Amino acid sequence: MKIPVNEPLIGEKEIEYVLDCLRSGWISSAGKYLEAFEEAWASYCGMRFGVAVSNGTTALQIAVAAAGIGPGDEVIMPTFTIISCAQAVTYNGGVPVLVDSEPRTWCMDVSQLEAKITPRTKAIMPVHIYGHPVDMDTVISLAKRHGLLVIEDAAEAHGAEYLSGRGTDQSHWQRCGGIGDISAFSFYANKLVTTGEGGMVLTSDPQIAGRLRSLRNLCFRPEQRFYHTELGHNFRLTNLQAAIGLAQIERMPETIAKKRWMGESYTRRLQAHAGLSLPVEEPWARQVYWMYGLVLDESTGVTAVEFARRLAERGIETRPFFLGMHEQPVFTSRGMFTREQYPVAERIARQGLYLPSGLTLTESQLAAVCQAVEDSLSAT
Ligand SMILES: Cc1ncc(COP(=O)(O)O)c(C=O)c1O
Repeated sequence: MKIPVNEPLIGEKEIEYVLDCLRSGWISSAGKYLEAFEEAWASYCGMRFGVAVSNGTTALQIAVAAAGIGPGDEVIMPTFTIISCAQAVTYNGGVPVLVDSEPRTWCMDVSQLEAKITPRTKAIMPVHIYGHPVDMDTVISLAKRHGLLVIEDAAEAHGAEYLSGRGTDQSHWQRCGGIGDISAFSFYANKLVTTGEGGMVLTSDPQIAGRLRSLRNLCFRPEQRFYHTELGHNFRLTNLQAAIGLAQIERMPETIAKKRWMGESYTRRLQAHAGLSLPVEEPWARQVYWMYGLVLDESTGVTAVEFARRLAERGIETRPFFLGMHEQPVFTSRGMFTREQYPVAERIARQGLYLPSGLTLTESQLAAVCQAVEDSLSAT
């Protein structure tokens, strides 16, 4: 018996909407499901406009472009993230500037941001890692003070919430992806909301929304269709994919409840092990456990690679943590990030992995994973 690291949950509603879509003939990048999906997700996250795109990577690509990031402009981001973040900036001619992770939440260490701001800084890109929000108050206040845009990467944090304005009478909960100026989401099959492949960019700024729509669709001009003054992309999502997504959004409360059950159950069963650091939930956060990660203490004598091997032998599929951008040959070979060190990200990249965390995970599977973790820790 093998327990997969993820399995999507597709319900009857998804099938019904997709069939409706097929029967209607609206199978390309226009149609009622696309509009409804964009509106529903923007409104769920607390933004005015949603622009659906082909995946989370292309969402970041046009989010950065629409933010006006161009040659030489700097964007501060965590080193511990997926390459999509750094490559979105690089493809637009900008320069990714890195900060380390915070050891408890594994999100960007916001105390390191200010020292990285230069006259070329244009934006900060917080990434809500594995379902836990970044501490956004510091990000927002620094951005305001220095005139920077905030581009949230909320690909992994659908429905996660952050308590903004702590310590003031303005304090209130906000959904991740609804806090910055622009946000990007992925709807890949392992996300809380999936469309198979897919993504979306959100903003409340009508001008940015217009730029995003244009960049998504080859920069056609509304007044003269095949006349171009700019280069864009075909990053369109289909109505068929949006039909799946809309059904998934309608199920968000159950999805989050399932993820929180999974996260809390894993923690309850694993917390006795001194050698494991488990996901946390800061008092200012409601996290969604997109993936249940763990970091092995060096005292266990095992690295994540070895631990993953032991778990695989017991039928448990895992995935390694991200490897920091400053350790990526594709960047270091271009002379980027040389001699930069980020000890927290370096450590968790070597000692961290995530366990099966899909929406179909059963209680007995979860118990089997925890047993395998225990056996793998004591195996020599
Ligand atoms: C934080 C983050 N940003 C962006 C992406 C890219 O999304 P996609 O795989 O849809 O291109 C991912 C993918 O998992 C991600 O985890």
